[in-house]
Amino acid sequence: MTRRNLLNPRKFVAPEFICGHRVLDLAGQYARNFGMKKVLLVTDHGVRAEGWMEAVARSLAEAEVPFAIFDSVSENPRAHEVMAGMEVYQSEECNGIVAVGGGSPMDCAKGIGITSSSMRDILAFEGVDRVSIPPPPLICIPTTAGSSADVSQFAVIKDEAGKRKIVIISKALIPDISLLDPEPLTTMSRDLTIDTGMDALSHAVEAYASNGSSPMTDMHALEAIRLVHSALPAVVEDPGNLELRFLSLLASLHAGLAFSNASLGATHAMAHGVEGIYDITHGRCNALLLEHVVAANYDAAPERYDRIGAIFGTVTAEQISPAEKIAVFRRSLGITETLASAGVREDALPTLVQRAYADPDMATNPRNLTCEEVQQIYDNAL
Ligand SMILES: [Fe+2]
Repeated sequence: MTRRNLLNPRKFVAPEFICGHRVLDLAGQYARNFGMKKVLLVTDHGVRAEGWMEAVARSLAEAEVPFAIFDSVSENPRAHEVMAGMEVYQSEECNGIVAVGGGSPMDCAKGIGITSSSMRDILAFEGVDRVSIPPPPLICIPTTAGSSADVSQFAVIKDEAGKRKIVIISKALIPDISLLDPEPLTTMSRDLTIDTGMDALSHAVEAYASNGSSPMTDMHALEAIRLVHSALPAVVEDPGNLELRFLSLLASLHAGLAFSNASLGATHAMAHGVEGIYDITHGRCNALLLEHVVAANYDAAPERYDRIGAIFGTVTAEQISPAEKIAVFRRSLGITETLASAGVREDALPTLVQRAYADPDMATNPRNLTCEEVQQIYDNAL
């Protein structure tokens, strides 16, 4: 660690969270504790079909907290979905939100919260610290282990008209409490488990290398990398194992605490550009970019990337770089495509480079990448 990093002023924010088996059953009790007279339950169709929304609804009913349901949330939540949820929140006269699902319902719920309190369009909040009116209380119950929306001060929303993703960063987006229960994770598909796990890995690697890192974020980032490396391959093979699912959830928690406070880097900035135009899942997009960004950034923070590489251990007979170790790990999980085979076209690269530059996550990338270098990274990942 450099002396500059050690002495820079840093803050660390985190929500209250409870981890453990069946803590989702505490949703009703906490909704009542927060004084919620009527809850907007935000979820999506997939989570509803698996029965996790019903489990939370039962908990609310047992605590005698009435609720309305908003489940029109897509993967990569759209701005118009946030505004539709806000209208339901207003018309149902809710005063609190419970989000059940992966990053999409949780980010949508955060958007509903800030638009409801301010009565402004969600796109007006793009950027850092643009939320001036506190949103209503928010309880998050993640059903995936990767987005870390349940602990982070980030929300990412798709602006469909502009074919781009906007990033909103504000302390107001940190949930009031998160209930981290491994059981809902057991119904994730193999692909979702892998993609969300690679998202957690990308968060941890980018937070550790970030210009905004600190001793507090470093310990969470390194523990997250260690946990993803050990638990993700195991949980893919044994998806019903609650203890392995819990370790994945812990990996996501540590990664979330790290990146929420240290911010991210070029992988996320470049992935957001791609996801604005193409419907590729966020985790998969990061998985296809991460090793190329690490290779491009290496010289800016060699000791940091070497420490990450050391966690991956010796993976081949000959010495290989941290970026190559991440590539070996990716392939071991069965991710073998490229951005091109996932649908990204070469003629979109100038737009993607421009979008990546405008993304706030680029600000903390350890290396100031030129336009040509960002284009080269996209080229390498195609
Ligand atoms: Fe992410």
